[in-house]
Amino acid sequence: MKRKVAIVGCGGIAQVHTRAIQDLEGTELCAFVDCRLERAKKLAAQYGGAGAGIYEGIEEMLSAGKPDVVHICTPHYLHVPMAIKVLESGGSVFMEKPPAISREQFAQLEIAAEGSTGKLGVCFQNRYNASTKKVDELLREGSLGEVKGGRAFVTWNRGANYYQDSDWRGRWETEGGGALINQSIHALDLLLRWLGEPDVVEASMGNHHLRGVCEVEDVTEAFLGFPGGKRACFYATTAYVSDEPVLIELACENGSIRLEGERVTVRYSRGEEAVFLLKTGSSAGKSYWGCGHAACIGDFYHSLEYGTSYANDLGAVANTLRVMMRIYESAGRGSLF
Ligand SMILES: NC(=O)c1ccc[n+]([C@@H]2O[C@H](COP(=O)([O-])OP(=O)(O)OC[C@H]3O[C@@H](n4cnc5c(N)ncnc54)[C@H](O)[C@@H]3O)[C@@H](O)[C@H]2O)c1
Repeated sequence: MKRKVAIVGCGGIAQVHTRAIQDLEGTELCAFVDCRLERAKKLAAQYGGAGAGIYEGIEEMLSAGKPDVVHICTPHYLHVPMAIKVLESGGSVFMEKPPAISREQFAQLEIAAEGSTGKLGVCFQNRYNASTKKVDELLREGSLGEVKGGRAFVTWNRGANYYQDSDWRGRWETEGGGALINQSIHALDLLLRWLGEPDVVEASMGNHHLRGVCEVEDVTEAFLGFPGGKRACFYATTAYVSDEPVLIELACENGSIRLEGERVTVRYSRGEEAVFLLKTGSSAGKSYWGCGHAACIGDFYHSLEYGTSYANDLGAVANTLRVMMRIYESAGRGSLF
């Protein structure tokens, strides 16, 4: 029996999910949901089987027939309420980032996930990048010693049209923030992957470029202090003129690791340098979405097939979510504009 899969939210990122699902054995795209019905119809025509259902709302879809897995590709504020509906129906959920837009939402999601027979996975696809795995490997190998600190820079470009063409982006209520929660959550997630849980979070944010167009931040900077004196500096902006590769650098006891897009550079204090150019695969969407979606989604289905735990379950994304919330709280979310 093939697993029945539904897509909720048939906009930009849904294309990447449908392609990844189509390439997986034992799955069948059986339902497409979008409040703009024409989008659901279009995606169903591209990827759905003959009997695929097309729906305007998630409730309608769930009462028509329960899919085994629902992919949630809707605006940020809808992720949690929609995931809870699916989990309560006993289905599994694969949800786009962010896993929530508030601590309250995240707590509700944790309760729903605990009480459900369904499984929940979050799309943090950059954890699957070959460059990410290379950094893991270099740190595991041990000759660089302990990580002492890190820095991350995201300098991207989102113009007025990006906000004006969307009914949910650019508003605290529906997007939950800007440069941090939307464009740089993956960079924060990777920085924390290698540094752990900070005990100090101090941040500021602003809207330099599109004041009057969107109410969310277009720049976030944060100082993160970790036990043992480790420190990290984080900077993310969408006010730049182009989408530059994300840069993350780790300062270690015996050298440093610099990850810039798909290039990993290791510098040892003793003078040697090594460069690794890594490719994860072709991006099924915009290049800055990265190439990890297929691997991230494939791993989720693997965990369903074999009843194993999923690497990006709620427990595994909780630190990133909580640090992100602490950054917004420290910076005074919403009060600046
Ligand atoms: N993992 C990544 O790197 C990555 C990349 C891009 C987008 N995303 C995430 O994917 C999500 C969607 O982003 P997008 O760029 O595709 O946005 P989008 O606006 O293109 O698509 C969202 C779709 O949801 C539909 N929708 C809105 N309300 C709905 C409702 N109540 N019921 C059914 N459908 C509804 C909209 O009509 C739209 O078609 C966001 O959470 C975003 O952060 C993640």
